[in-house]
Amino acid sequence: MTLGVNIDHVAVLREARRVNAPDILQAMYVAIEAGADQITIHLREDRRHIHDTDAYRIAKLSRIPVNLECSINEEIIDIVCDIKPHRATLVPEKREEVTTEGGLDIASNKERTKKAIHNLTESEISVSLFIDPDITAIDLAKEVGADMVELHTGAYSNIFATLYSNLAASHHRIETLQKDRETLKRMLHRSLDELKTAAEYATGLGLEVAAGHGLNYQNVHNINAITAITELNIGQSIVARSVFTGLDKAVREMKALLNA
Ligand code: PXP
Repeated sequence: MTLGVNIDHVAVLREARRVNAPDILQAMYVAIEAGADQITIHLREDRRHIHDTDAYRIAKLSRIPVNLECSINEEIIDIVCDIKPHRATLVPEKREEVTTEGGLDIASNKERTKKAIHNLTESEISVSLFIDPDITAIDLAKEVGADMVELHTGAYSNIFATLYSNLAASHHRIETLQKDRETLKRMLHRSLDELKTAAEYATGLGLEVAAGHGLNYQNVHNINAITAITELNIGQSIVARSVFTGLDKAVREMKALLNA
């Protein structure tokens, strides 16, 4: 299992004061030294964390592959074609959302997605689509010409956190998951099954399969056990842990879990 370390949240902290600390390039170098297999960043339309200059410098200076997440907005795709990361992961984007909620709706954006993939491929950038673990979405990803899919693990992570962390006792509890533990356990089981089935189905179509969103030190083992998934992109939990341990240790601890 390879680890893409998403360093967006280092930029979130920097943007809280609009200064240059913590330095995003230092985060990149530390993550690489600690064993990251890939650097993942998201160039959002509202530039709320990663800015164009960050993306250009990271793509130029990283000695490991760079996975640049972006929307299918034409202006953004043109910039990504110019930045030339190793891979672009197309994600849905809503300005008002806190983070990427749900996978790309390919069916409603088929022509725009196809065009984005065409332009990126012409620029020799491989393309992954961030989708829900859903067979129809995988068929569409194949049809529009993606090389890879990244399965959204947000639903699994939310159920896991409600069952096995103190989230439900906090002000961030998820109201739709206020259910009894047996129901939640069944939901968790079903969600893992969906991820496994989707990953195997995508592999069968010749697509590479990654997964990510909400993965952390407690919940990653179940996803790590799905052999059809070969890459995980993890950000918030690693950067959150690094506040107490330093980024080097936080990345090493996640790598150790993936190698276990
Ligand atoms: N993969 C994709 C496509 C994402 O959009 C994100 C969030 O930016 C991640 C992985 C990482 O999610 P998290 O920060 O919850 O680990």
